[in-house]
Amino acid sequence: MRIYLDYNATTPPAPEVVELVARVTRDVWGNASSIHHFGQQAKAAMDDARGQVAELVGAEPSEMVFTGGGTESDNAAIRGAAEALEPAGRRHLVTTAIEHEAVLNTMKALARRGWRVTFVPVDATGIVSVDAVTEALADDTALVSVMHANNELGTVQPIEAIAQAARARGALVHTDAVQTAGKLPIDVRRLGVDLLSISAHKFYGPKGVGALWIRRGVRLAPFVTGGRQERGRRAGTENVAGIAGMGAAAARARQKMASEGPRQAALRDRLERGVLAAVPGSERNGAAEPRVPNTANISVERIESESLLIGLDLEGIAVSSGSACSSGTLEPSHVLKAMGLPHARTLGSIRFSLGEANTDADVDRVIAVLPGLVEKLRNLTVTMKR
Ligand SMILES: Cc1ncc(COP(=O)(O)O)c(C=O)c1O
Repeated sequence: MRIYLDYNATTPPAPEVVELVARVTRDVWGNASSIHHFGQQAKAAMDDARGQVAELVGAEPSEMVFTGGGTESDNAAIRGAAEALEPAGRRHLVTTAIEHEAVLNTMKALARRGWRVTFVPVDATGIVSVDAVTEALADDTALVSVMHANNELGTVQPIEAIAQAARARGALVHTDAVQTAGKLPIDVRRLGVDLLSISAHKFYGPKGVGALWIRRGVRLAPFVTGGRQERGRRAGTENVAGIAGMGAAAARARQKMASEGPRQAALRDRLERGVLAAVPGSERNGAAEPRVPNTANISVERIESESLLIGLDLEGIAVSSGSACSSGTLEPSHVLKAMGLPHARTLGSIRFSLGEANTDADVDRVIAVLPGLVEKLRNLTVTMKR
């Protein structure tokens, strides 16, 4: 039996989601823009999904725009806001050093085209300081984009306070909530943001479908030009089956969150405590709280995370590593690097991200396997160095 502990990378689509996607693909194949019965059937399926997805984040259905996933939602929010506010002379963008590449690389692309971008640093907690973001704000700040929870650490960022500070300076606020949707209750009005990204495959929905919430009244340049779909913001015939699947996944997540959150948090905490106690030279990365309930990030001294990941995979345990091998050298995670952790510690980090299928037995197995594996890898490194 394989143990999957990489739910932050993706989740298996729930059986009822798979069934609905298949049924809609087969039976509801009309073009949602067509006026006839077939088109209206597709439009009705999308309307249902829009309501379900809006409910997941406490929004009005008319404020949700379906996209091709979290990366597209982030691009649409950032590029759309930057373009819409440029004529008003707002040419400055604020983000953090620990964002997902979908945000970081979009910001870097805009920086190359003349926008000033401030990347706010973080400390070893992996939580962005509200003061640091406030200090970064300028009179011409167009947009502040700070993720809701970090995908590598699980740390939850103080979005409400950041949004208050940013909006007081007339800037728009975007949050990438890809790692919180379905894990924590979200209320867009309470967060006080203008734009919020989510992605279906992180909460047991299909891949390649996401949504961007755009607060009513916010002007955003259209991100895909063409037909009038999605109120002219994202043109192109819609992925009706994927959207229906996202709706079903959203409804399901809302139901499950209250029981799954505490259940996974208890498993995660036991896993974390067990690993830290059983593996000499291991340390948790980032603050324990506030965190999404399913994520633990641990560095193991004198170990390269990729070797550990492969070793665990051979034992049937799937996790993810913080560092990645590029052109023969280990590249530490940009998140751990931004936190100012010692280089060696950034190279030995692994992320456990739990989900619905995980049980106590899975946690026991990881705690049983990991110490021996770490020792073996350390001995191997010593032998190789001789
Ligand atoms: C925080 C965060 N933002 C954005 C994305 C990208 O989402 P998608 O895979 O739907 O493009 C991910 C996925 O790893 C993520 O964790």
